[in-house]
Amino acid sequence: MQKLIIKGKKKLSGSISISGSKNATLPILAATLLTDKVITLKNIPLVQDVHTMINLLKFIGLNIEISKKSKTLKISSNRKLKTVAPYNLLKTMRAGVLVLGPLLAKYKKAKVSLPGGCAIGARPVNLHLFALEKLGAKIKIKNGYIYASAKDGLKGSIIKFPSISVGATENAILAAVSAKGKTIISNCAIEPEIQDMIIFLKKMGCNINFVGKRKILIIGTREFKNIRHEVIFDRIELGTYLIAAALAGKKIIFLKVKPKIIETEIKLLKKMGIKIKIDKNKITIFESGKVNNVNIKTAPYPGFPTDLQAQIMILMLKASGVSKITENIFENRFMHVPELRRMGAKIIIKKNIAFVTGPTNLSGAEVMATDLRASVSLVLAALIADNRTVINRVYHLDRGYENLEKKLRKCKANINRV
Ligand code: EPZ
Repeated sequence: MQKLIIKGKKKLSGSISISGSKNATLPILAATLLTDKVITLKNIPLVQDVHTMINLLKFIGLNIEISKKSKTLKISSNRKLKTVAPYNLLKTMRAGVLVLGPLLAKYKKAKVSLPGGCAIGARPVNLHLFALEKLGAKIKIKNGYIYASAKDGLKGSIIKFPSISVGATENAILAAVSAKGKTIISNCAIEPEIQDMIIFLKKMGCNINFVGKRKILIIGTREFKNIRHEVIFDRIELGTYLIAAALAGKKIIFLKVKPKIIETEIKLLKKMGIKIKIDKNKITIFESGKVNNVNIKTAPYPGFPTDLQAQIMILMLKASGVSKITENIFENRFMHVPELRRMGAKIIIKKNIAFVTGPTNLSGAEVMATDLRASVSLVLAALIADNRTVINRVYHLDRGYENLEKKLRKCKANINRV
């Protein structure tokens, strides 16, 4: 297995280009199952999870041409698709469950492997199934598979989510856009990735509109068009590198980004004393002095994202005093903490709250990645630690960060993969 070796305490400067969003690409790829038209997707992040989803869609029967250089996918289908998503393709990438809604809507049946849990939590899909049953699907779970069917096709309905779920909102939308009649979905997740998927669906010909902050009205259709779509930038990758710049930057520039989308994160960094300049499509981080401690609670968008919880914890290690971070989304998302403690971090966990004491000087160590965002927090810690840090199991990183070493090396970080 590959490792990353990072020599800390190097000052970073330069510019970092942000890739397309993994978490927008995955549901948009699932949405291409709905149409027989030709779809061109641009600004695709060629990370492991996207390759896994592409393999799943090819297994189901779509033709997908990848142009690595221009990060473009050309998708079409000229044969009847399979309505099966097998375990071996879903076991490493839970978002494969998003093919359930579109396959059910288009073919009135689907057999999709029940996605397992992962390091950060049990990750149930009960809300996905709740929404599909509201649309008329009959659901059975057997031998680790979800068997869904709707012999008369899906019918529009009223779906009121009891709690906010990104994936369940996406699956419900992807099913309802081709159901017969009108659907109203309330208490939706409204992450920018979902909003980008909705823009894509409208371009495709779907009739879908927000009729409230967390309320969507859909009129089902099957008339679609050939379209092109450029996927939104990855706000979690951007947030990760903004924190890297706040930790170890002299001056780092981020181009072709929309600061408005990460208002919450920018406000928080300013509150922590980070020197940050905001222009229309550009963000610049300057070397900061003292870092202030803060209290954060993760929440659904537009709240502070759980996907940046592990990363902001590293900046808290530089802050003076005790900072608090409450993880409200996943039940086991502090797996990075034991590894950070081995680098000298002073972090106490009480239930879903981490108390982080700073400023703490970290020392390089051999550590192990456990999940995508925990592994990148170890990279951030290594950037400010004394001496050398070796990070094992970097395949976790490759699931969601494109060319991480290249982007950091371009800003003078001392980072190598072996
Ligand atoms: C999406 O996961 C993201 N993944 C996650 O990013 C992100 O952390 C999460 O949303 C929250 O923002 C993708 O978009 C591919 P949820 P998802 O359904 O859809 C519970 C990353 O690092 N829940 O909003 O699985 C669930 O257990 C990944 O890129 C149910 O109880 O998240 C969790 O506690 C990690 N029943 C909470 O809801 C369900 O049916 C929020 O989960 C579904 C979810």
